[in-house]
Amino acid sequence: MFHIKEDEINNIRQHADIVEIISSYLPLTPRGKNYFGVCPFHEDHSPSMSVSKEKGIFKCFSCGATGNVFKFVSDYENISFVEAVKKIAEKVGIPLTGNIDIKKEKKNIQEYKIMEMSALFFQNNLMTKRGEEAIKYLKDRNLDELVIKEFQIGLSLDKNSLHKFLKQQYKDSDLTNLGLINQKGVNAYDTFINRIIFPIHDLNGEVVGFTGRTYLPDSLPPKYLNSKETVIFKKGNILFNYHRAASAIRLEKKLIIVEGNMDAIRMYVNGIKNTIALMGTSLTTFQIKEIKKMRVPVILMLDNDEAGLTATYQVGELLEKENISVNVVRLSGEKDPDDYIIKNGIEQIKENIKNAISFLEFKLSYFKKNKNLQDSEELITYIKEVLNGMKDNDDAIRKEITLKKLSDDYGISLELLKEELGKLESKEKVLLIKEEPLKVTTKKTKYVDGVTHILYFMMNDPIYIKMYKRKLGFLDQAKYRGIANEIMAYYECHQTIQLADFLSYIEQSKLKEEMLEIIQSIKDDNMDENIMEEYINSVKKVMKEQEIKKLKEKQRLEMDVNKKLELGRRIQELKKEV
Ligand code: UTP
Ligand code: MN
Repeated sequence: MFHIKEDEINNIRQHADIVEIISSYLPLTPRGKNYFGVCPFHEDHSPSMSVSKEKGIFKCFSCGATGNVFKFVSDYENISFVEAVKKIAEKVGIPLTGNIDIKKEKKNIQEYKIMEMSALFFQNNLMTKRGEEAIKYLKDRNLDELVIKEFQIGLSLDKNSLHKFLKQQYKDSDLTNLGLINQKGVNAYDTFINRIIFPIHDLNGEVVGFTGRTYLPDSLPPKYLNSKETVIFKKGNILFNYHRAASAIRLEKKLIIVEGNMDAIRMYVNGIKNTIALMGTSLTTFQIKEIKKMRVPVILMLDNDEAGLTATYQVGELLEKENISVNVVRLSGEKDPDDYIIKNGIEQIKENIKNAISFLEFKLSYFKKNKNLQDSEELITYIKEVLNGMKDNDDAIRKEITLKKLSDDYGISLELLKEELGKLESKEKVLLIKEEPLKVTTKKTKYVDGVTHILYFMMNDPIYIKMYKRKLGFLDQAKYRGIANEIMAYYECHQTIQLADFLSYIEQSKLKEEMLEIIQSIKDDNMDENIMEEYINSVKKVMKEQEIKKLKEKQRLEMDVNKKLELGRRIQELKKEV
């Protein structure tokens, strides 16, 4: 996976001044030992991110984002860890010896190549005599040459022209697998015939599929024909226009999501570059994860019809569940952002975006749909839906304001609404606790708190690894035990440990997510041997209590009297220790 040696990575990191490098992205001010700045990984205005020159790490006390200098650059610029290492190596002037050609590790090279060649073929067609009518169609839609270039728009021709072009170099089966041609008996036909072609790129900007729009008056539906799913084209892994929009999204700290490809294109070419389009009217887990990674609020601006309204609700719910802040624009008059901009101009849509409402506010009116609120039964349903829609929201101020509004609008006492919402929220909490069987929650929290601190300490200094070995040596939960073992193995191999370098190592570990979760969960940074000792003792205690529980259960089920007694003795011993 990695092609740069760990020693090299660590050497580069030690030569890179994290304060200097982060300062080149955002202003930092010194305070005490550390530097502080506004965290770019969540919406914030106060300086909650601290950067430690000495430790070589950054840490946001608000959103938990943390890491070394490579992690900062890779997250900020949305590039891979390896690319970030490469970039910083150049910055600090250390030549890399290892082979870090990222392309080398790529699979499906031929598939990408074929798609790229097809895209060029289509683009070229548009510029020939046979493209005149298509060009006219595009012009009529206000899509000029610059747009055509930028979006690599092309034209497919009749029958088997793409096939003819590619078959010198590639096997029919390869082209069929990529959905470019269809075999009918002994003949092969192009999939895309007489359509204006828009390439679809994956998140890295590689052409992986096409969508072709009809433009001739006598064309048959569908309006848009899309590539079928292939080894490289997975609809659920794509966000249309993402690769062009990524840097603008970071810069604007906002992501606008529209429904149609044409909407995204229209927005982009009019300077609202932080726009992507849905590939359908829902989002997959993968897409949500990618959106979440950007750590910016989302503005949903879907079509102005029933389907767009429902999709706004559904997509908004999906995003909010992942703690992504969601705002909504509902345009009026025109069908979609594309038509809206053509009709009213870009400034007008910017105004709409500026006035986007919160998702909660959207839900308030969404639930009203088709309800007669004069009818008390329907009003009750409405209020309940709204309260239900609020319970996942962490924004206390917004909640308070919404409840006040409900109270004023419908003459229900504020106390009563608060009480009802409280009930819904505590019901949720009870359910959550029930899902964790057997474990006493307070103890579990103490255990997790203790273990995460112990593991965090161990990542920072060999002293704590030695303490762990001497005084604890074992963790009963496999997940944590695995991490402890990995830390010890790292130490054995390197004879030293330092969080900033360990963070680089984590990038290639199978336990990456679990370890990052631990590092992010630590809010305080006080470390000494006494504190470590306290955590060890408290974890030991919980583990013994768990052990006692297990033995008691075993004792209860044991039929042999002697064994039962023996178990009782062990339980007593453990109890004394606790
Ligand atoms: P729309 O019908 O809203 O398309 O479908 P649009 O973006 O406004 O396109 P124009 O303005 O008529 O050219 C929204 C999205 O649904 C998918 C496409 O991804 C489109 O961008 N779609 C629509 C299809 O896949 N096939 C179709 O036949 C129609
Ligand atoms: Mn449209």
